[in-house]
Formats: sequence, structure tokens, C-alpha cells
Amino acid sequence: MLDKKINHPLHKKENKTICFSDATLAKVRQIIARYPEGRQKSAILPLLHMAQEEFEGYLSVDVMDYVAYLLEIQPIEVYEVATFYSQYYLDPVGKNVIEICRTGPCAICGGEAIQSYLEKKLSIKTGETTPDGLFTLKAVECLGACGSAPVMQINTEFHEFLTIEKIDQILDELRLKAKEEKPEKSRWKEKFF
Ligand code: FES
Repeated sequence: MLDKKINHPLHKKENKTICFSDATLAKVRQIIARYPEGRQKSAILPLLHMAQEEFEGYLSVDVMDYVAYLLEIQPIEVYEVATFYSQYYLDPVGKNVIEICRTGPCAICGGEAIQSYLEKKLSIKTGETTPDGLFTLKAVECLGACGSAPVMQINTEFHEFLTIEKIDQILDELRLKAKEEKPEKSRWKEKFF
């Protein structure tokens, strides 16, 4: 059934076909097959992660429509999920998305100072991307590691018990990695699905 769907004209916009690669489609089939017939919506979270990785790092409306079509659900059902979780990006982001926790326990333990330091160090405001496209800074709700506050997540990696010194070290390492053009350490698709 999936084979018919991927060639549907819905996925051809502005002469650009929105379609997963063969390898990703094989993974999509596997994931959907985990759920009973009619419950394929349960595969929405991993499919959105894969779509985000495969289609330029963010979920455009066309990409979300494609996921809805694959899952045979209404586009609004995909928009609801994609706008709820901070791990999904609705606009283009930098190579490294820094998500600093802004919830109470982290704030009490210095999270706000860390956020201000990141803004100063990157010369951007929260919500912005550096001109070189290397970093996007976001403030998010509890990352579920309150015991290690203050906490931030960069792409799929967690960084806990943050200090100014740790921030300097992490940013330096990421800048060096970008210069050396090392491949991503991990991606959602390879790491979790
Ligand atoms: S409050 Fe920051 S991880 Fe929970």
C-alpha cells in the first residue's frame, strides 16, 4: 500500500518531489508494521523525526502533509504533534540546536544565567540562529533530568550540571568538529529507530 502512496501527486510541489529515500521508506514500513491495522498513527513520532532529518532539518507544511498522507491521517493531526514537541522544528535551524531548559528546577540552579551566557557567547537571542548557521538557541520546558540541573540538549546529546566553563568547552568542541567537518555523532534515525 505504501508503494502507491509515495508516488501520489500530493507530494509533488514546485517541481520538487517530497519522498523519503528507499532506505528510509524501508524503515518506515518496519515501524508502521509494529502497530495493528488502523493504528498506524502510533508511528507518528519516529516518522516525524525521520522526516525532519531527511528534509533539510525541519518540518515544512508540505513535509507534514506527506507524513499525514503516509499514515492516512488528517494533516491537522500531524500539525498538532509537531507543534507540541520542542524536538520538532517548523523553521530552518542551525547545524546544532541548543535547547536550554527554562523550567523551575533548572532556573533555580543557574539555568537562566547559562541561557544569558549562551546568548552573549553566540551573539544571538534565544530563538535565533547564528549567521554561520552553526547554532540555534532555544529555551524549552523540562528536559526530564532535573536532578542534574542545569541541563541542555544539543541535537540528540544531553549536557548536565552545566557551568560557564562547560559551555565554553562544549561550544569550542562543536566549532572544531564543524571545521573538521566530522560527521554527526548520532542522528535520531540511527540512534533510536
Ligand atoms: S527542570 Fe530542567 S530538566 Fe527538569
